[in-house]
Amino acid sequence: MRKKISLIGAGQIGGTLAHLISIKELADVVLFDVAEGIAKGKALDIAQSTAVDGNDVNLTGTSSYEDTKNSDVIIITAGVPRKPGMSRDDLLEINLKIIKEVANGIKSTSPNAFVICITNPLDIIVMALQKYSGMPANKVVGMAGILDSSRFNYFLSQEFNVPVKKIKTLVLGGHGDTMVPMPNRTTINGKSLIELIKENKITKEKLEDIITRTRKGGAEIIKFLQKGSAFYAPAASGVEMAESYIKNLKKTLPCAAYLNGEYGFNKLYAGVPAIIGNKGVEKIVEIKLDTKEKENFEVSVKAVKDLLKIAIKIDPSLAN
Ligand code: APR
Repeated sequence: MRKKISLIGAGQIGGTLAHLISIKELADVVLFDVAEGIAKGKALDIAQSTAVDGNDVNLTGTSSYEDTKNSDVIIITAGVPRKPGMSRDDLLEINLKIIKEVANGIKSTSPNAFVICITNPLDIIVMALQKYSGMPANKVVGMAGILDSSRFNYFLSQEFNVPVKKIKTLVLGGHGDTMVPMPNRTTINGKSLIELIKENKITKEKLEDIITRTRKGGAEIIKFLQKGSAFYAPAASGVEMAESYIKNLKKTLPCAAYLNGEYGFNKLYAGVPAIIGNKGVEKIVEIKLDTKEKENFEVSVKAVKDLLKIAIKIDPSLAN
């Protein structure tokens, strides 16, 4: 039987997710949105595109959680995107309310689903989603690390004039300005970035610029678009996680996962490499961090913890 993916939020990312999933024939798609017309309209439009491509998937649009019943995967983008000048943190209050509503909608209808959260500010929203829904932590993850790593990868590919496929990168930590791009874990054509610095193929300053640009990758796009935030790369990243789960690919993917002692942190979501297979997050991969990386990772987790404190002020039930 074909799998079922429900997309909660049929906006820019939701629509792109639906399109990518249908092109890949990964699953039938239910587009859910409080704005029912948007969900129905996009579902119909993409469904008609399947007749051009000959893809065999069903798409429907709805504003009823009943129609998302027994989903294998749920991808959440419901929320308000960042506006120019607005930080991810400003979004917190509005999106916490929305995520509570979504958690209530999905927990009884699709209790066994693998849930991927994309709504920002990511690390806190995914944590709140897990708490509000009570769904198992290994089945509730956040999408950020793949997107951040892909931005780092792309900028390096431009700098070195090397195809993106020849670059391996990793970005850890929270999905914010303190995220931790990892030059030590980056190879270009199989050669480590650190070696390339030693060989003067790139200056430390240039690399710092690329790291800063990666950290501010979302804001750069918002500034161009003026209305709305990035959606193509976030959607592609979400689909990669869904695919690894549905096809049991057991890929190691950087994502916001629940830490229970790993990396020295407890009961907290943070961006780490995780193996995603048909049981959800099957293992968190603990890579050995050097002193500087550890320090940066801790700064990033502290930023998540600080934001959690603000979230708890907004909704004290999140403290439990
Ligand atoms: N339930 C379901 N859908 C909702 C709800 C809700 N309670 N509240 C809002 N929505 C819908 C909106 O109607 C809108 O169609 O969520 C959709 C969000 O779509 P966009 O505004 O186009 O935002 P998008 O670019 O898709 O980003 C969504 O992902 O990356 C993050 O920061 C981004 O938090 C934002 C989210």
